[in-house]
Amino acid sequence: MLAIIGGSGLYDLNSLGSQGHNSLRQESVRTEYAATAVTIDLLETEAGTVAFLPRHGKTHHLPPHKINYRANIAALKKLGANEILAINAVGGINASAGPGSLIVPDQLIDYTWGRASTFFEDNLDRVVHVDFGEPFTAGMRERVLKAVKQANEQSEDPRLLMERAVYACTQGPRLETAAEIVRLQRDGCDVVGMTGMPEAVLAREQGLDYAMLALSVNWAAGIVPGEITMAEIEAVMAEGMDFLRQVLKLFLRLDS
Ligand code: HPA
Repeated sequence: MLAIIGGSGLYDLNSLGSQGHNSLRQESVRTEYAATAVTIDLLETEAGTVAFLPRHGKTHHLPPHKINYRANIAALKKLGANEILAINAVGGINASAGPGSLIVPDQLIDYTWGRASTFFEDNLDRVVHVDFGEPFTAGMRERVLKAVKQANEQSEDPRLLMERAVYACTQGPRLETAAEIVRLQRDGCDVVGMTGMPEAVLAREQGLDYAMLALSVNWAAGIVPGEITMAEIEAVMAEGMDFLRQVLKLFLRLDS
């Protein structure tokens, strides 16, 4: 089963169900990683059942460092997910990742700290080191790229697409300083967000395929002069989400 994890701006899968049977039900999944259950939407589509989980909560009340990534991934695994498509809002560092553009990262650098970032820490028979050299699943990335290209062909407002990129995951919730962005640039990062990690590695630890489709919602700090405002971010996000939903619709129609 495919699971979609929605980021900022994507809190439901409305409009994605196939006509006539876009019935939605909810499952509350308990895991050993949270006192409360994780609520997951299940949508029946022509491609089968799709799970949806908004990582910031339905009402966007969880900041990036407070998200219970382990509970989310464990719950999706328990429900039967075998692949996750993550949707993430990012700031653009690379000149090709300006607001409104889409990015399918192939690499990441983790700058977060203090997050519960592994399933393998307690009651182990042996220490576990997962391979993470390629953090995103190649086959899934190809399908995401195909869906974005199809959406572009059908749209009067095609989007710039970065087919490879290095995603920097910062701690947040504050945005970065201009000097931090210069450092990320020197490190080879193209886009910056706050929620890609530990989500991606936890999926790997559970044996789930994982790819990210990111929407740039602002230029990262210092890339262009002036403050980054939430109003600006929200406007780009609102505009981009319709396109993203179309990409998701096309993605569901592709053979996996
Ligand atoms: N920095 C970090 N995370 C983000 C940004 C940013 O500029 N924009 C959207 N998510």
